[in-house]
Amino acid sequence: MNSRAKPAKSFGLLYIRETKIPRGKAVMSETVKIIIEGNEYELPVITGSENEKAIDISKLRDLTGHITLDVGFKNTGSTKSSITYLDGELGILRHRGYSIEDLAEHATFLEVSYMLLYGHLPNATEYANFEDQIREHTLVNEGMDAMFKAFPTGSHPMGQLGSMVNALSLFYPKSLDPHRAEDAIGRTVIRLMAKMPTICSMIYKKRNGHPTVYPQNKLDYVSNFLNMTFGQVTMDYKIDPVLVDAMNKLLILHADHEQNCSASTVRVVGSSQANLYSSIAAGINGLWGPLHGGANQEVLEMLEKIRLDGGNVQKWIDKAKDKNDPFRLMGFGHRVYKNFDPRAKIIKKSCDEVLAKLGVNDPVLEIAKKLEETALTDPYFIERKLFPNVDFYSGIIYRAMGFPTDFFTVLFAMGRLPGWVAQWQELRREKQPIARPRQIYTGEAARVFVPMNQR
Ligand code: SDX
Repeated sequence: MNSRAKPAKSFGLLYIRETKIPRGKAVMSETVKIIIEGNEYELPVITGSENEKAIDISKLRDLTGHITLDVGFKNTGSTKSSITYLDGELGILRHRGYSIEDLAEHATFLEVSYMLLYGHLPNATEYANFEDQIREHTLVNEGMDAMFKAFPTGSHPMGQLGSMVNALSLFYPKSLDPHRAEDAIGRTVIRLMAKMPTICSMIYKKRNGHPTVYPQNKLDYVSNFLNMTFGQVTMDYKIDPVLVDAMNKLLILHADHEQNCSASTVRVVGSSQANLYSSIAAGINGLWGPLHGGANQEVLEMLEKIRLDGGNVQKWIDKAKDKNDPFRLMGFGHRVYKNFDPRAKIIKKSCDEVLAKLGVNDPVLEIAKKLEETALTDPYFIERKLFPNVDFYSGIIYRAMGFPTDFFTVLFAMGRLPGWVAQWQELRREKQPIARPRQIYTGEAARVFVPMNQR
């Protein structure tokens, strides 16, 4: 099938020759031609295994003296990847080919973590072996416990998490070697997966001035986290299967999301051959921002504000539409999803179920549903294809489970960890070059230096 773009004056003709490709492969099978200042150049087109297409511009500057400019990378692919596929128009999200709906319904978070890290769902033996390896490394060095004493009381949990994960590189100095053998890196990955729930629960405990509850190797990954977080050293904690199921589902729904802001941060830092812990700590800091993972905290604070303001949903919708008002409807909109975020659909359904099972009646849930209903019929939101994303309902469940609002993004990070690590491993296995984008300079032309007494 041939398609030809209409001639564009400044840019010349674009010819695309298409050939059909077998599924499951990414091939360079087509070319595009561009004409710049009267010269014609041919560039290869990469076709992904789901038929996504990219013009490979890796030789563009050598060929034409031009670079491309795409602030925020809205149209720019930074890598090929076999980890996650998402289709923003159709609301499709798959990890290693498995749909997010199937994974959320049928798998545990540790199964999904294994699949992200090693490329396939584990069989019973592989899973048992993975669990055993994790159990060996759930404790953290007591020196890390002492670090918490230095954090100001009430300091933000995400700042603590980034500091503690980065500190792992200090307690495991061999992890700093960028040329370690695969099996040594494998152990570093297991250590991080094993210690993340322990560190997250310690952050929760320390904020309440409570002693650490140590990991219990008889418990599964999620039950262990809940026990370390909500359990007390003075009494047994009854593991609620409703919470375990909800936590598994929420962690799975956050496990990876291709080249989002924080995963790209992990890749950029990892591309300098920085160690895994500092690469992941960088991702944690990227996730913290309110436009990214920090949105789940912002959503709850926004819903509370609307509730305290009398629940006048239309007033806040109008504020979100007002260009002169900095207020944004947090938890709404997405860079890639342009019809719906499949994760938000699953979380919204789970919200009703978990709150009912926990016997929690949270007034902000009704406000959230009213906001969604009103926004989805409003031309401003419809024209801009804005609707609830993964963060819109998740905080309501987290709060019903007993987590404080500023801890929500820590839970997002715990879920995203296997995705970040899988992205970091893929970058290293493919020996990708250091990330170093170009720019277009818009500053002063050359100037002569003038000594201070002559200015
Ligand atoms: C996550 O990338 C990922 O995959 C991220 C994530 C993951 O799993 O890793 O899915 C997790 O980060 C989800 C997003 C969480 N953030 C929020 O909920 C914050 C609120 N949403 C926005 O700030 C915004 O929608 C973004 C950041 C999510 C997307 O921003 P874009 O793609 O840069 O879009 P934009 O800011 O250029 O907005 C386009 C238009 C603008 O209006 P116009 O200038 O065209 O008139 O839509 C408007 C924006 O003003 N707009 C909003 C809005 N989001 C966009 N208006 C009101 N409320 C909003 N929430």
